[in-house]
Amino acid sequence: MRLPHHYLLDASVVFSFDASGFRRHARAFDPADLEVDLSGRVCLVTGANSGIGRATARELALRNATVLLLCRNPERGQRAEDELRAETGSESIRFHQLDLSDLVDVRRYAAETAPERIDVLIHNAGLLPLERQLSPQGHEITLATHVLGPLLLSQLLRERLASGARRGRIVWVSSGGMYTQALSLRDVQWEERDYDGVVAYAQTKRMQVVLAELLAERWPELAVNSMHPGWADSPGVERSLPTFHKLLGKRLRTPAQGADTVVWLAVADAAEARSGEFFFDREARSPYLLGKQESPERRRELWDACQRWLAESAPASPPEPASAQSGAGA
Ligand SMILES: NC(=O)c1ccc[n+]([C@@H]2O[C@H](COP(=O)([O-])OP(=O)(O)OC[C@H]3O[C@@H](n4cnc5c(N)ncnc54)[C@H](OP(=O)(O)O)[C@@H]3O)[C@@H](O)[C@H]2O)c1
Repeated sequence: MRLPHHYLLDASVVFSFDASGFRRHARAFDPADLEVDLSGRVCLVTGANSGIGRATARELALRNATVLLLCRNPERGQRAEDELRAETGSESIRFHQLDLSDLVDVRRYAAETAPERIDVLIHNAGLLPLERQLSPQGHEITLATHVLGPLLLSQLLRERLASGARRGRIVWVSSGGMYTQALSLRDVQWEERDYDGVVAYAQTKRMQVVLAELLAERWPELAVNSMHPGWADSPGVERSLPTFHKLLGKRLRTPAQGADTVVWLAVADAAEARSGEFFFDREARSPYLLGKQESPERRRELWDACQRWLAESAPASPPEPASAQSGAGA
């Protein structure tokens, strides 16, 4: 049972998102949830060479999963594979090169490299840029990395996630920062206003939460969830938010604490039937500060815009043969 002071500490945000919040919430965890043998299960983790993604990959490997580290940089990806193999004693960890922001690379990865059967897909790769950057297809970089790449990868791997004996799972690593932004598609490419990386980050993290809900509705054969990890010490936070990193110091969670709910959603039996819900510290939470969801029209607008951007990036289909154009037998 939650005591009144828990509600106050959670409302403070700091004493909820920080390491003390994790320790307090963890008193309600069932340790048996993560006492699982993942032998035979194939888990893909994007952005697995650093921070929360690396810690997630490590926990999965320690439970005997086959873990594929989807990283954009070959040196960093290979180093993560070598280090994680040494740390866990697992030989079932492999680095696969993939730049999530590049929709051509996502299509190449799905067609040529991704395994035939997948149990878990974790969308962890993320960034908070200080200046506006564009992806190879000309999309603002947080939109490409947090939204378009992961959505395309999910769509291309959907059947492979559904082909195993267990219900396939997709986990979106969003951020508590998304609480600051309502779903908006206004100038989402940042062409008409001065760039603000914090806002771009939070808006695309909000989109991740909505997309996870939409995918859960559309793909009942899979479990699709989003979550936020609280505030964890990672190279990304140190690089992008140096003042915040310095101020919080030891109050920050460890990467493993930040990864805990990612791993729980990926493998715990207790999580399997909770598709569509948004989690923090293994507990379903409202993704809205005042509990009010955006309109169905606004959610539909997001879905349609994403599908349009993905279609624009699709390779042109080969021209139909002349006989087909003029009608068979004509
Ligand atoms: N740490 C926190 O407190 C916190 C709070 C809320 C949400 N999150 C979320 O947690 C996730 C992990 O963040 P983190 O703190 O662990 O940051 P991090 O240490 O910077 O790790 C981010 C990972 O994403 C990778 N990445 C970025 N762009 C990519 C791309 N285009 N293709 C493939 N990989 C790409 C990075 O690769 P490189 O090494 O090549 O850059 C890195 O491996 C992010 O989605 C972040 O938004 C973190």
